[in-house]
Amino acid sequence: MTVTILARVVRGLEWVAADEVATALPAVRPRLAAREVTFETGRWPEPGLLALRTVDDAFLRVAVRDGVGATRDVPARVAAWCARLDWATWRDRLGQLRPVPERPRFDVVASLDGRRSFNRFALENTVGAAIAARLGGVFAARDGAGRTPGETDLTVRLMVRGPQLVVALRLGVRPLHRRAYKLATGAGTLHPPLAAAMARLALPTGPPVAGLPVARLPVAGTPQAGAASRGGAASRGGVSQVPVVADPFCGDGTIAIEAAYALPAATVLGTDLDPGRLANARDNAGRAGQRIGFGRADAARLPWRPGAVTSVLTNPPWEVAVRAGGALAESLVPFLSALPGVLPAYGRVALVLDAELDGADLLARRGLRVLLGQRIRLAGRISDLLLCAPDDAGADGLVDGLGAWRERALAGGLITPDGF
Ligand SMILES: C[S@@+](CC[C@H](N)C(=O)[O-])C[C@H]1O[C@@H](n2cnc3c(N)ncnc32)[C@H](O)[C@@H]1O
Repeated sequence: MTVTILARVVRGLEWVAADEVATALPAVRPRLAAREVTFETGRWPEPGLLALRTVDDAFLRVAVRDGVGATRDVPARVAAWCARLDWATWRDRLGQLRPVPERPRFDVVASLDGRRSFNRFALENTVGAAIAARLGGVFAARDGAGRTPGETDLTVRLMVRGPQLVVALRLGVRPLHRRAYKLATGAGTLHPPLAAAMARLALPTGPPVAGLPVARLPVAGTPQAGAASRGGAASRGGVSQVPVVADPFCGDGTIAIEAAYALPAATVLGTDLDPGRLANARDNAGRAGQRIGFGRADAARLPWRPGAVTSVLTNPPWEVAVRAGGALAESLVPFLSALPGVLPAYGRVALVLDAELDGADLLARRGLRVLLGQRIRLAGRISDLLLCAPDDAGADGLVDGLGAWRERALAGGLITPDGF
């Protein structure tokens, strides 16, 4: 049996998600569209689908209908059509991938583009009521104010795009971006799939350690020194065979935790000025089962020895959701100036910056070369994701697979060299 999977992704990072899909599921051929990666798989159930980390949400496609209009009677007509679909079979199919109760409580989530004479709530409630019996479930409707009905076992997704309606079932109980580990959070915390994409961009994909340059161990006595390298990788004469990944504005630990998942053999470090955020990070990492060395430090004075950090992955406070504090209260320049010093020549930096800032220029003046700048849109906000290397590095940008997916996205007009 072949099924079609729709993966929703951050705008601008479709090519990164396609690379993850193609690496995790080598038999599939992802297709790219704005905010979406679609593919067929003949292997069902495929548990790797629920482990995708750069994907926001993933769905099993149930049916597609063309000729959906914009008039008030559309919800009733769509509901009548949906009620004829073989919902019990689709529910059982999903039940092969993950547990689905015999009589699931389900909700319906619709998205509509363009102007229509009905709203999404009318469509959701009409379709939900119409399919409950066929699905053998209990429809959890929104309340009068449109509030969601709380946790459900199953979500039916309706995507109305122009004249087309796509009907799908969410693969997980909740969206993939909602990580079970991430319960302790503060202001400006990062979207986990973006953190996972940063880790993919700044780190090699293949086998975790093979072919990596040697990185030196962190300095004794600094917060990170307590972080034993995970995966038991070898260390000889103060030189470690594993990459060292660090986030000097780690907040609740999202980037550090996602980097730890992406590179199981790496030593991962996170520092922040705020003890409350560090407590969150430790809580979250504990729930994720990841060993990460967290410690308190002002990013104006990076607590790592010269050349000790293979990759710095971070989203600094750009005065939008969170203000910089400590020695950075006036300007982030001391951090940017210190950054090249902690990297070896083959080091990498991935930064999320506010799009208003001229990040490439700012970094170039501090001795970092921007290898790649990708504009992204997340919850309506535009940011830049920059991949940088020390200015004297001979390095080019991306490892093979990722580079090929970026080329495809560029050739197809989905992205431009720095935007979309
Ligand atoms: C945008 S948040 C980072 C969020 C983080 N990526 C996450 O997912 O939770 C910026 C962080 O910078 C920290 N910060 C502000 N000034 C700092 C400084 N001088 N040195 C280190 N951290 C600082 C704040 O405490 C905050 O946690």
